[in-house]
Amino acid sequence: MSVPEQVRSAAKAALSGLKRHRRETFLLRLERWWPDLVGAVAAAYDDPERVALRLVETAARGYADRPRDLRRLDEQRLLRPDRIQGPEQVGYACYTERFSPDGTLAGLAGRLDHLRSLGVTYLHLMPLLRPREGDNDGGYAVADYRAVRPDLGTVDDLRDLATTLRGEGISLVVDLVLNHVAREHPWAAAARAGDATYRDYFHVFADRALPDRYEETLPEVFPDFAPGSFTFEPELDAWVWTTFNSFQWDLNWANPAVLAELAQVVVDLANLGVEVLRLDAIAFLWKRLGTDCQNQPEVHAITQALRAVARMAAPATLFKAEAIVGPRQLVPYLGVGEHTGRVSDLAYHNSLMVQVWSMLATGDTRLARQALGALPPTPPSGTWITYLRCHDDIGWAIDDADAAAVGVTGPGHRHFLADWYAGEFPGSWAEGLVFQHNPATGDRRISGTTASLTGLGAHRRDPDGAFARIYLAHAVVAGWGGVPVIWSGDELGLPDDPAWADEPGHADDNRWAHRSRVTDADLAALGDPTTDHARVHAGLAHLMRVRAGLPQLHASAPVSVLPDTDDGVLAVVRRHPSGILVGLYNVTTQPRPFPLDRLHDLGLTEPREALGDHALTAGSDGLLWLPPYAAWWVVGA
Ligand code: GLC
Ligand code: GLC
Repeated sequence: MSVPEQVRSAAKAALSGLKRHRRETFLLRLERWWPDLVGAVAAAYDDPERVALRLVETAARGYADRPRDLRRLDEQRLLRPDRIQGPEQVGYACYTERFSPDGTLAGLAGRLDHLRSLGVTYLHLMPLLRPREGDNDGGYAVADYRAVRPDLGTVDDLRDLATTLRGEGISLVVDLVLNHVAREHPWAAAARAGDATYRDYFHVFADRALPDRYEETLPEVFPDFAPGSFTFEPELDAWVWTTFNSFQWDLNWANPAVLAELAQVVVDLANLGVEVLRLDAIAFLWKRLGTDCQNQPEVHAITQALRAVARMAAPATLFKAEAIVGPRQLVPYLGVGEHTGRVSDLAYHNSLMVQVWSMLATGDTRLARQALGALPPTPPSGTWITYLRCHDDIGWAIDDADAAAVGVTGPGHRHFLADWYAGEFPGSWAEGLVFQHNPATGDRRISGTTASLTGLGAHRRDPDGAFARIYLAHAVVAGWGGVPVIWSGDELGLPDDPAWADEPGHADDNRWAHRSRVTDADLAALGDPTTDHARVHAGLAHLMRVRAGLPQLHASAPVSVLPDTDDGVLAVVRRHPSGILVGLYNVTTQPRPFPLDRLHDLGLTEPREALGDHALTAGSDGLLWLPPYAAWWVVGA
């Protein structure tokens, strides 16, 4: 499909001030990405060529304005498009004000040594664009995409930080909140003031007729503090779609003007040096009556259109989908079918996360083997973000069919997991908090740091077990393939913040319990090997160091789970041209067997365990015995 002449001339006009070779580069990119762009736009909008033309102009202007150092970065990334898949990639996610020594972006440089100690190459700073005043859902209610939160610094500070991090080999990751804006954002303010153009940026309903029909099939995200998905707005005398909190107004993505606005935001953030954009709540963008209004096909078309713009203007930019959805809906966010290789580069492996917690609670791998084994293969360029905790609660995304296949029920198992992690089940070492109990569905999500959920909470129900579980769980996460992202504070074994509810606006939202502050004192504790901090940190740093040297962990290698192992053992096989890696994990407190023959059958004739750096030999029964909670990464000698 060739680029229409009108589009080409519009691009040339936007590039007129540039040298010939730079114009040429853009036109080559336009040829390369035009089919992706116009095809995607056509799947969601009328008059696709006109809509796409406007996006090409945005891309061309962004390209023209792109600073020289970032153009150089583009070239570097184009020379090594699989960089993000390398085994040396390690992520870290934190709130600037809770991690930086002085609470600012500029101050973050003071934490570089700590990030280096973990080998971090990817730093996700929680929302930092200017939110509304007062409660703002941790920054997810953006009032201005072009300003930085004043308490954190300025746009210049953000640019400087991105440059500093890049010099250290660390990519800066920032949220792009695109499902909604704050009620105070100028678009929403204009709509409230009666401007019809901006009213069309939102889903506004004169009465409850349609909202009631939508509600029949819509799940509630925050049933506790923001029931329903619509909010009455007195200034409009109408109902506004608000999936999350009442002050977060969902954008109307069926309006191409919204697409054009957000495409501009993508380019602007990329040109500040942001390398990865986390597409917040991406599953919710498109609404369709009679559905749960998640994962609609147009969501993938919109992502593809935005990505084509980014590829033209700033190809170093990667997209990360935040789609916390069921296992069957997850893989399309990395691109399947017509979207293969065309949507997000990265996506959260929510299923793996849930299964790790499930295995630790049950000491049984049957459900995990079933669920992870049933996942469709990921496209080779698509890369998982693997993680154990993040700033959000854990929702028990267990598929009913997977549960049934191993003889339990979905609701029953979800109920058990909520009981276990709330610390209400006999024998539980966990001290989590119930988040958003929904009496209508019985659903209970869970908040809490990794330490609190593994036995290192305020009551220290099982510290020794906790150290083993924290290491084991991170070994599964780091050994899966993809970018393992450590949630700030988890690398220090920090328990929940006992004073989480004291800050204004936080008392209703116990996710703040696990949004830890990392202080100088916490880092000083690393100097004493007997502290929780040091014990946990040493294990995680070791995992990341060993991982960096194992090409088998390149994210493009296919991964599979052996179906027929001992019920306490998870065996994860990674087949890379450089060799095979078998991750063996004992999720129980007793020794568990794995037949040596099976490693031989997989081609590992002289197996070596890379984490402990020792050879593996079986007893006369031909079995390898994994000690309680053992995590082994087995490779060839
Ligand atoms: C995302 C964020 C979550 C936020 C929601 C609404 O899922 O991770 O913290 O509440 O979006 O923006
Ligand atoms: C739901 C949403 C997810 C969001 C979370 C906030 O799980 O699916 O996107 O992060 O709620 O708690």
